[in-house]
Amino acid sequence: MTELDFIRDFLQANRKYVQDKYAAKSGVTVSTKAHASDLLTEVDLTIQKRFVERVNAVYPGDVVVGEEGEYSRYPRDLRSRAWIIDPIDGTYNFVRGLHPIFAISIAFAVDGKNAAAGVLLPITGEMFLAEQGAGSFCDGLRLRVSEVQQASHARIDLDFSGLEDRFQFLDRGVEVLRQVGQVRCYGSAVASICQIATGDCDAYLHMNLAPWDFAASQLIVEEAGGMASRLNGGPLHLFEPKQGLLITNGAIHHEMLAMLRG
Ligand code: IPD
Ligand code: CA
Ligand code: CA
Repeated sequence: MTELDFIRDFLQANRKYVQDKYAAKSGVTVSTKAHASDLLTEVDLTIQKRFVERVNAVYPGDVVVGEEGEYSRYPRDLRSRAWIIDPIDGTYNFVRGLHPIFAISIAFAVDGKNAAAGVLLPITGEMFLAEQGAGSFCDGLRLRVSEVQQASHARIDLDFSGLEDRFQFLDRGVEVLRQVGQVRCYGSAVASICQIATGDCDAYLHMNLAPWDFAASQLIVEEAGGMASRLNGGPLHLFEPKQGLLITNGAIHHEMLAMLRG
């Protein structure tokens, strides 16, 4: 079994649990984290716990980095084999039921670099899979980014967690609003970034993301021919403190970077 098989099996095995909880969500336990709309549910905790147990059983000694609790620490040795999970990306969407856009996101990294990745949208059932150097796929179909060549013709997704992100965006990103074709904000970084790989979205911009928010979908986009960087155009490494990033179809990457101030 490859690491990609392991990711796929875990996602498949946990889809029904998440679907059932979403359907019965008035009975799901919800608490808050950093602020009143930063939500945590029993589903986030259960998926992460199940994943840690599976990794420990199949790959003892591997490191798990996950959004929740003690697992949010980065590996001490970057050369470790590491698994990066966001058990539910888009928890707010899950809880409010405003739109069923939320995802389970899992990446496997060696030497601090993405090697395999899987993302599941439990409600639609779409599963994105990628391996370094082997392309990316959604439900078995090979993915390719869009051929949009100009930001003025592009769909750009933006996202904000809290107030700090909005202020940073006002500081650095307002030119984007002036210049791009269409702007969307879905509340799931993972789902938006995967849509760059399908060619439906052309760029994703965020001022403050953690590795579990982008690790898997970054590989999925890169393997579909897209590009990822920090806001200054520097390389997007996995285990760095939360900060901004830009992921695009590649063709409009430099034009987008030029719009970002500071
Ligand atoms: C959040 C979503 C959101 C982004 C936030 C993330 P969560 O993840 O990806 O789109 O704007 O910064 O924290 O908390 O739902 O896993
Ligand atoms: Ca999450
Ligand atoms: Ca997240």
